[in-house]
Amino acid sequence: MGSYIINGGAALKGSVTVQGSKNSSVAVLIASLITDGITILRDIPDISDVNDCIAILCSLGCTVEKIDKNVLKINTSGIGDGKIPVELTRKMRASSYLIGAMLSRFGKCESIISGGCDFGSRPLDLHILAMEALGAVCLTTESGQTLSAPHSLRGGEIVFPIKTVGATINSMIAAAKAAGTTVIKGAAREPHIRDVADYLNLCGADIRGAGSDTIIVHGVSKLHGCDFTVCPDMIEAGTFITYSLLTGGDITCLNAPVNQLSSFLNVIDQMGAKLITKENSVKVTSSSLSPACVHTAPYPGFPTDLHPQTAVLMASANGISTICETVFKNRFHYLEPLRALGLTATESGCRLTIYGNTSFTGGEVRATDLRGGAALVGAALCAHGKSVINDTVYIERGYSEFVGKLRALGAEITERE
Ligand code: EPZ
Repeated sequence: MGSYIINGGAALKGSVTVQGSKNSSVAVLIASLITDGITILRDIPDISDVNDCIAILCSLGCTVEKIDKNVLKINTSGIGDGKIPVELTRKMRASSYLIGAMLSRFGKCESIISGGCDFGSRPLDLHILAMEALGAVCLTTESGQTLSAPHSLRGGEIVFPIKTVGATINSMIAAAKAAGTTVIKGAAREPHIRDVADYLNLCGADIRGAGSDTIIVHGVSKLHGCDFTVCPDMIEAGTFITYSLLTGGDITCLNAPVNQLSSFLNVIDQMGAKLITKENSVKVTSSSLSPACVHTAPYPGFPTDLHPQTAVLMASANGISTICETVFKNRFHYLEPLRALGLTATESGCRLTIYGNTSFTGGEVRATDLRGGAALVGAALCAHGKSVINDTVYIERGYSEFVGKLRALGAEITERE
């Protein structure tokens, strides 16, 4: 499952180029299934979630070539209604997008077992609500839920009771070629939702309003391929920003989507970070950090995917901070290994109280999920002594060339299979 060995204490200095967005890349890869022809995707990070999506496309008869380190060439001409291996779909949440793609392309979707980080339950009921609004029929069998669209998907009105990134993306994929007009109300607004709409529109779709809470899709009969570059990964940028602050370093994030990080940058600015921001770069240094109170929220609110990393920052601040996690019912599994490195924090419902002035000490711990693992790396980078972080397979799902980037910034880190 992989391990990192980190000797803490080095101040990280230098610049790091932010990768293409993991969450855009996996969504666009699955969305390419409803297009016909050749798609070139650029700035795709070399991470295991992307490689698993490539394996899913190939299992359906597509060909995917890596024509450069971060450039993929996808050909869907050989696509067929094959069986997708469950051992692939259960590895990540992005496999839920197969629901919209398979219904659109083949008119049916066998039970999709989608996975993803363990935040308690991760239901698909809103994905199914959306598909039913477009005319799909859901059958619950002992092997799961199977969706079919006997008369093909048709435009309809989808009204989400809560913000859901995945179901918003799935709705756009399913509606892109559904006959008629689809209105998605209560849509989530994350940047990668706009990315998927931009990709599909480049392929000939007619999707308007992505990034707002109402999206209108005029179905088209056919989609061709295109040449598309995914947006930068705001969560990777935020993660490296916390590492600069935690180690008392001086990191410049290049290719950083600064405008997407406003809620996060406002919080660390209030905590005392010194930020020099340009259009697509941010340089971060700090002296001492003050505490903060944060509520995670759907975009453009404070990103839930920067909650664990920010908790480590708050532990280093001089005072008591709180994080209220409003997006996922239980995103607190990462606390146990962090406590083993010195964190003092108490949970009450969705609220986490973090006691500052922590001096982390090295230890051997296990990553629990993608962003919790990134938080453990942050604690180990500023800890006294050596840390061993096991199960780094979780971290490799979303951070490309992670050890190389950290070593280039001066971190004392090695990896072990
Ligand atoms: C996406 O997950 C991201 N994953 C997550 O990033 C991210 O944390 C999350 O959006 C929120 O921003 C990908 O893009 C692959 P949701 P998703 O649907 O789509 C509930 C990372 O670290 N809900 O917006 O699963 C759900 O339980 C990962 O990169 C339902 O109740 O998130 C949650 O409480 C982790 N029924 C809330 O909505 C549904 O059918 C938001 O979930 C769907 C969701």
